[in-house]
Amino acid sequence: MRMRRKPWVRAELAESEFFIDDPTLNIGNWHSKYKRKGPLHLELGCGKGSFIAKLAAKNPNINYLAIDIKSEVLGLAKRNVEKEYLQAQREIDNVLLTAYEIEIIQNILNEKDIVDRIYINFCNPWPKPRHNKKRLTYPRQLEKYKIFLKQGRRNIL
Ligand SMILES: C[S@@+](CC[C@H](N)C(=O)[O-])C[C@H]1O[C@@H](n2cnc3c(N)ncnc32)[C@H](O)[C@@H]1O
Repeated sequence: MRMRRKPWVRAELAESEFFIDDPTLNIGNWHSKYKRKGPLHLELGCGKGSFIAKLAAKNPNINYLAIDIKSEVLGLAKRNVEKEYLQAQREIDNVLLTAYEIEIIQNILNEKDIVDRIYINFCNPWPKPRHNKKRLTYPRQLEKYKIFLKQGRRNIL
């Protein structure tokens, strides 16, 4: 997803309480970052966040972490989350956003960060054979998700 630079994004994300600036600091500790204990669901490549914003606002007992490599789209995701929670008249307490390269996701999530569910919606197809290793669903990537995906859920990968 190509996107024009948005001058407001950096400042808005820096001020946001639900944007994690350095996710490597939370490795092994994600569950403690939410107000309530609950299952942790992950969205990889969340883009503008429309999906996670709606889902998280409707499910207060589930904690969500949405990751994308592009700050530009995360700026829009932040605004989408705010809009949905305003409509739902809820405090934003069960969703976190962060910018990271998912190819090295093992640097931000480990076996202590047990994840119940992973969403990957419309991932970049990378149709050329020489690029297909970049797909978020490439087998080598799926192996990495097994590090933190709950036992019993791994056979679906
Ligand atoms: C086609 S868009 C889909 C966005 C969103 N899931 C949706 O359904 O609208 C794919 C998203 O995945 C992100 N992405 C692709 N590869 C990534 C990677 N290796 N690390 C982090 N984000 C990645 C892109 O930046 C982009 O926002």
